[in-house]
Amino acid sequence: MPTSDRRATALELAGLVKRFGPKTAVHDVTLTVPAGSFYGLVGPNGAGKTTALSMAVGLLRPDAGQARVFGADVWADPVEARSRIGVLPDGLALPDRLTGRELLVHLARLRGLDRATAAGRAAELLDLLDLLDAERTLVNDYSRWSLC
Ligand SMILES: Nc1ncnc2c1ncn2[C@@H]1O[C@H](COP(=O)(O)OP(=O)(O)OP(=O)(O)O)[C@@H](O)[C@H]1O
Ligand SMILES: [Mg+2]
Repeated sequence: MPTSDRRATALELAGLVKRFGPKTAVHDVTLTVPAGSFYGLVGPNGAGKTTALSMAVGLLRPDAGQARVFGADVWADPVEARSRIGVLPDGLALPDRLTGRELLVHLARLRGLDRATAAGRAAELLDLLDLLDAERTLVNDYSRWSLC
């Protein structure tokens, strides 16, 4: 695929394979998700959805195939690829003793925002998400949906 097309592609999976011992959990998955679209994987329990998505976002190394996020190979160029995605995995692990506001500031600082900008963006998001009343709630006490 030409480089310009890759930039218009949010996620590109090519021939992904994962085996666990004798079991093939993901067999040759190839798909393209255009930028700006919603996309879902649907299938029965054990079909390989979590395994495929874990490989797509750099949480699990494939036995074969490639995953690219906006053209950046998830395994060859992990910093670029990971800086372009947000992931809410099945088993979510968060610093649950922080308040909602503290978590937002913490995440913003991890993304390289300075202290003042991080504080400003956290305030904006709390307001936008209607969470100002709950800003002192500990992460542990939010429902999962509040965090999405
Ligand atoms: N770490 C692992 N070790 C061994 N087998 C695994 C591992 N992870 C997944 N599997 C197996 O790989 C297959 C695909 O599992 P996966 O969790 O990707 O399916 P899923 O589509 O996400 O299922 P669900 O709908 O239940 O979430 C299943 O048979 C599962 O038992
Ligand atoms: Mg799953």
